Amino acid sequence: MNYLTFALAKGRLAKKSLALFEQVGIHMDEMKDPDTRKLIFVNEELKIKMFLAKASDVPTYVEYGAADIGVVGKDTLLEEGRRLYEVLDLGFGRCRMCVCGPASAAKYLQHQELIRVASKYPNIAKDYFYNKKHQTVEIIKLHGSVELAPIVGLSEVIVDIVETGTTLRENGLEVLEEICPLSARVVVNQVSMKMENERIMKLIRELKSLL
Ligand code: PRP
Repeated sequence: MNYLTFALAKGRLAKKSLALFEQVGIHMDEMKDPDTRKLIFVNEELKIKMFLAKASDVPTYVEYGAADIGVVGKDTLLEEGRRLYEVLDLGFGRCRMCVCGPASAAKYLQHQELIRVASKYPNIAKDYFYNKKHQTVEIIKLHGSVELAPIVGLSEVIVDIVETGTTLRENGLEVLEEICPLSARVVVNQVSMKMENERIMKLIRELKSLL
């Protein structure tokens, strides 16, 4: 039997993803050791390998078949635009992709003005403003703490994830427009889906029955 390889997004989703796999009998105890520097973990009995990767790299591993299965946020899938099958919404990690800014920036959106938009998600921002709103904007790519941008005058608005809304509130910003809902998704490599169909479909069925 071949190994099935799983790529899980590091960070917020990792713990819940591991807990979910445990519930369907896939235990990776070594992986939960916070001090380990090991990158990949093997369950010889089940012929399963698992690794954690930076969220934005998970779709890449899955598209190229270096991982058969991935767990990653819908935000990353939309941003990366990789060719893979999205097979399951896990229902956790729920949040929203939004256009945010100070209340005073709402007028720029209404009047289709040429504004600057800062985001960790330039492709999502581009798609929303160009294809959905038909508004020409300048997109500025950032790598974190995006809420700073409108505060210090780098941009008029941001496109970012809103979960509880606390970050916005504490910085005098608000949701101006909602782009789409987000949550954790299971993705599958297109060739693996054919070659390992039975094993993968069984796993998907088991995960589904927990949701
Ligand atoms: C995310 C996101 C927001 C915040 C939203 O950032 O980019 O800043 O969480 O959560 P809230 O609505 O519950 O406040 P993250 O913590 O991943 O850090 P980063 O911005 O530095 O990437």
